[in-house]
Amino acid sequence: MSDPVRIIEMGPRDGLQNEKTPVSVEARIAFVEALVAAGLNTVEVGAFVSAKAIPQMASSDAVLRGVSHIEGAEFHVLVPNEKGYEAARAAGAKVVSVFAAASEGFSRANINCSVAESIERFKPVMARARTDGVKVRGYISCVLGCPFDGEIKPKAVADLAGTLWDLGCYEISLGDTIGVGTPTKAKEMLRAVSASIPAAHLAMHFHDTYGQALANLYAGMEEGVRVIDSAAGGLGGCPYAPGATGNVATEDVVYMLEGMGISTGIDMEKLLAATNEISRLLGRPPASRVATALNAKKKRATS
Ligand code: HMG
Ligand code: MG
Repeated sequence: MSDPVRIIEMGPRDGLQNEKTPVSVEARIAFVEALVAAGLNTVEVGAFVSAKAIPQMASSDAVLRGVSHIEGAEFHVLVPNEKGYEAARAAGAKVVSVFAAASEGFSRANINCSVAESIERFKPVMARARTDGVKVRGYISCVLGCPFDGEIKPKAVADLAGTLWDLGCYEISLGDTIGVGTPTKAKEMLRAVSASIPAAHLAMHFHDTYGQALANLYAGMEEGVRVIDSAAGGLGGCPYAPGATGNVATEDVVYMLEGMGISTGIDMEKLLAATNEISRLLGRPPASRVATALNAKKKRATS
């Protein structure tokens, strides 16, 4: 359990993609700068998808260009197809993420094609990335339940993870998109996937809709998974997953890990400042329990 954990910050992408209040390119860049300054050195900063589908991620090219001066950090962007890959590369992307779903219903709603068709769309992306020396991360959505198709069998997740792995993804991020999972189910799913892919190459991407994310992360850590996707302030959700709230909050993950004696290298004060600033721009308080508690503590101390 004491092995190091790598946190991939999702706030500027998964977080902001589902926020109603528009956030300017300058503010998105400043958010990324603040997150890196807090010690989050891997940040997903945008998505090269249809601006009609996700207007919040329009101008991701400007965001990616705008953060390129930041040293010592790795920036990820989503690409659904070759068109997205080309645009991401033109903006300087060195790591891209393809995203598939464990269910047909979600695949259709999210990227307007079947799971098999999505894999066909990824193949030219993978081939070009190999030639270009670009790393590709692979997401699977709905690994613990689908808003359209209901229950998802661990084998369906394991099979798709195997396909993405065979295509050349360096890491597979397993998404509980609608946050319905519980620890035993999370363990079963991770065991099924890690039967063919080393746990060191898996990531947990759990949304906190039902308040189960930290418990599920702990269960996954017991299975040897050491990469966690989280969003500052618990921002966001998925526009195509009705009712889904944001990723588990980065503050909550950092608090849990540090409390367990696992050093994250993340400065909680700076992270809280980044969260408070984006929350101010969005006009609402952070969803993170830890951010809420720390803000209340500060208020008490100054009153
Ligand atoms: P499509 O309709 O199948 O694609 O959309 P198409 O090739 O038929 O093109 C339709 C239009 O989209 C055309 O424009 C294309 O040029 C354009 P039009 O002629 O109508 O003006 N287009 C693009 N534009 C920009 N960038 C592109 C691109 N490709 C085509 N790359 C597509 C397919 C995937 C593009 C569309 O369905 C889409 O953008 N969907 C949004 C998907 C998305 O961003 N979802 C949220 C992120 S995934 C997520 O949150 C889950 C995750 O966090 C894990 C988890 O929690 O589970 C990762
Ligand atoms: Mg997500």
